[in-house]
Amino acid sequence: MISKTMEQALNKQVNREFYSAYLYLSMSSYFETANMKGFAKWMRIQAKEEQIHALKLYDYLLARGGKANLLDIEAPKGKWSSAGKVFEEVYSHEQKVTGMINALVDLAVKEKDHASFEMLQWFVKEQVEEEEHASGILAQVTCVGDVPGHLFYLDHHLGKRE
Ligand SMILES: [Fe+2]
Ligand SMILES: [Fe+2]
Repeated sequence: MISKTMEQALNKQVNREFYSAYLYLSMSSYFETANMKGFAKWMRIQAKEEQIHALKLYDYLLARGGKANLLDIEAPKGKWSSAGKVFEEVYSHEQKVTGMINALVDLAVKEKDHASFEMLQWFVKEQVEEEEHASGILAQVTCVGDVPGHLFYLDHHLGKRE
């Protein structure tokens, strides 16, 4: 059975993953409004992935005899000034999440909770990809700048995400 400390910490992370989903869904709606359908689609898929992350932790908590406490989800902001600003925020948000995952791994070590340590390794690897994708797209958006034709191309490219 999982310790109360770990249970509480993982419940907090479930909430943060759902917040990530909320944030990315909000970004998706911003892009929809700006008529950037490819960016919107990319963000919507990203939001769905964050829900999967949340449920992965939720299922793990239950499998370990823990209790899932679903906490209030903070409202994300809904307005950005450009695609570049959105991706600056995605990248810094993912870096923050990496810090949270690392703190959970530290806690698992401290609690001698090998099962949680092992489960969290999936998230450690996932965060490497998340940061790589966010920083990669940020670099592309920055490179393209505000040139409409180039942005249109990038929008088309991002819309190919499945
Ligand atoms: Fe996540
Ligand atoms: Fe993420």
